[in-house]
Amino acid sequence: MTTPIEISFTETDIDALAGADGKLAIVVTPEGKLDAAARRVNRLTRGAVQRLASSSRWEKAKPGDVVSLAFPAGLSAETLAVVKLPRRPSVEQARKAGAELAKVKGSATLTVAAGALTRAADLAFGLVLRAYEFTDHKTAESEAQAGAVVMVSKPEDVSAAAAPMMAVAEGVFFTRDLVSEPSNVLTTTEFAARLSALSDLGLEIEVLDEAELETLGMRALLAVGQGSESPSKVVVMQWKGGGEEAPLALVGKGVVFDTGGISLKPAGGMEDMTMDMGGAGVVAGVMRSLARRKAKANVVGIVGLVENMPDGRAQRPGDVVRSMKGDTIEVINTDAEGRLVLCDVMWYAQDRFQPAGMVDLATLTGAIIIGLGHENAGVFSNHDGFCESFLKAAASEGEGAWRMPLGAAYDKMLKSAIADMKNVGGRPAGSITAAQFLQRFVRDETPWIHLDIAGVASVKAETDFAPKGATGWGVMALDRLVRDGYETE
Ligand code: BES
Ligand code: MN
Ligand code: ZN
Repeated sequence: MTTPIEISFTETDIDALAGADGKLAIVVTPEGKLDAAARRVNRLTRGAVQRLASSSRWEKAKPGDVVSLAFPAGLSAETLAVVKLPRRPSVEQARKAGAELAKVKGSATLTVAAGALTRAADLAFGLVLRAYEFTDHKTAESEAQAGAVVMVSKPEDVSAAAAPMMAVAEGVFFTRDLVSEPSNVLTTTEFAARLSALSDLGLEIEVLDEAELETLGMRALLAVGQGSESPSKVVVMQWKGGGEEAPLALVGKGVVFDTGGISLKPAGGMEDMTMDMGGAGVVAGVMRSLARRKAKANVVGIVGLVENMPDGRAQRPGDVVRSMKGDTIEVINTDAEGRLVLCDVMWYAQDRFQPAGMVDLATLTGAIIIGLGHENAGVFSNHDGFCESFLKAAASEGEGAWRMPLGAAYDKMLKSAIADMKNVGGRPAGSITAAQFLQRFVRDETPWIHLDIAGVASVKAETDFAPKGATGWGVMALDRLVRDGYETE
């Protein structure tokens, strides 16, 4: 796994600043106030910091921005990064500053003189998240990324505050690695093996094979995978950190590659479908975070791992399959496969665990990208309170999420002439009819949220906290949801 860069928190050593190697960062307030470290650096650079702080360039910078001075006289460092932050920044500002520093840092060592800045842990979190790089398939010796030293007045306190954040960063990196992997590497079997390895962190892992899925009656899920050489699997990950209470269930779509099946997708852009296991990737990342920070909650993560291929044994448009619930489905379009996988996994999750709430995540529809672009995931729910608590968690972690409607009129669009339902509702409201399909497999008493992450799981341009590619969207929000709503103390 791509490991987060090492951050050490140490006591401020003003005398070490002149000789610090690599990149050196200091913090100056928007009003241009310098702390002790910044004053020392200002003196060493014969007033460069003060000149910057009274320039129009500084005035234009926003809190969390960084202005870099190259090869500053009086310092060993090759770059002096001046961070604009109030003494008491918001979480968002502190994380943003950390992310900006990650870009300045590159693979060099970085020393951050944060002094008495509050939220220095959040700054470190932003730094770690943005320093992600997926280099597993680059054969050139990639330069090992050096760590960062953050000098603060109370290193023990900041270190303790940062520990759970670093656990979450590890979960985010786990998700990003899974989403970044090509599909010849991350087969269903390899995916299940990587999840099985989480047992080292204290998670209970079970891998259900095709024979077991057949016995359970998961014909909808199995039909999707029947044209692939890679066997379909369902992986159950349990974290039992709470008491006797019913768990929160997280369910993920894990289509390791989506060709569309016999309803084959066009060639252009098909390579993006390596990320069609993004929902399962997020579930895996959250489970890893919870285990790493020993969350005091009961959470079960269940993912359906399949590959959607065209083949002599593949399902055909027009086939009718029976779900685990017992309802029959006319498969009009084999490219609407995610819902066929989820309906069986969601039914299994409720049948076996009677969860207190269920969240499913899936790169489910292209239509959600048309509606919300790459800024927000689509949120669908049968329970206002549960939905509100998720939206609040997502907002506080800076992950875009926007609620979409459900309703009987949309559900009607799934009527089939020969089976209980069909798997597509036509082009209008494509994301909503997909959610309606899923809701048919949600029990009335289960509070449920469906997250359509097709637009946010992997993106073509860098975001605040990730380079272009896999984002890990949702790991932070779901970790926050657990922390705020399910932990026992
Ligand atoms: N995996 C796709 C959805 C998708 C599209 C994810 C773009 C990420 C980026 C899904 O399985 C799919 O093919 N959906 C179809 C549904 C249609 C056939 C009803 C779609 O959105 O076109
Ligand atoms: Mn598809
Ligand atoms: Zn798909």
